[in-house]
Amino acid sequence: MTESRPATVLIFDSGVGGLTVFREIVRARPDARYIYVADDAGFPYGNQPEAALIARIVDVVGKAIALHKPDLVVIACNTASTLALAQLRAAYPVPFVGTVPAIKPACAQSKSKRIAVLGTQSTVSREYTRALIREFAGDCNVVLVGSPKLAGYAELELAGTPAPDADIKSEIAPCFGEGPPEHYTDTIVLACTHYPLLIERFRALAAWPVDWLDPAPAIARRVAELMRERPPGPVGERPRIFFTSGRAPAPALAGALAQYGF
Ligand code: DGL
Repeated sequence: MTESRPATVLIFDSGVGGLTVFREIVRARPDARYIYVADDAGFPYGNQPEAALIARIVDVVGKAIALHKPDLVVIACNTASTLALAQLRAAYPVPFVGTVPAIKPACAQSKSKRIAVLGTQSTVSREYTRALIREFAGDCNVVLVGSPKLAGYAELELAGTPAPDADIKSEIAPCFGEGPPEHYTDTIVLACTHYPLLIERFRALAAWPVDWLDPAPAIARRVAELMRERPPGPVGERPRIFFTSGRAPAPALAGALAQYGF
């Protein structure tokens, strides 16, 4: 990336979760041209058969690449990254940045040496995630919590129809262990990009205070690093968002998207 024209960055997720990654990347490089593609016609990704989902992701991302000709693609979705990043890299020559569970930093910072990884059912059951645990968890006890509902609750939150407290509380409850205080969970990895949209709800409903680890700042640093040879320019044009359903967002969601600059 040595050119002086603004870089085009394609951000991809199954829905609005990737906005939590997008907002950090824009902060790092406000001069780039951003295209956000939400595969809402395929949402949720979290509990779908793998082969069909890989084919769908490779197809949808491929069409977006052909249309928008990005210099860089960010797969702002743990479920898609842990499943299809290798296939995407094999299929398209553009650089990809993925989003995968932040197990290494979580274990490094945990004092109780007990962390939880909160993600979709697919992400926590995937070999990719288990390999991260084998490689980086060391002496840390890792509790895997797959939620079938939280990504949908995050979509509702952004659309202005928040899920009730009790429903959110029961999804996050398994992250909190029992036992003597030193074995209590002190760090929870947000292993789905939708979940930072619920962070205030999580904090309010947590069994006790923990560190909720959002990987977005680290992803933004990686993107900035890949763009370092492109000199920063003036603030870029307005970002654009596309939904694969072709549906226009309802007014409340449109209002929320406007806050992200769309
Ligand atoms: N945002 C996605 C992730 O990071 C998943 C949501 C879904 O189930 O589609 O895993």
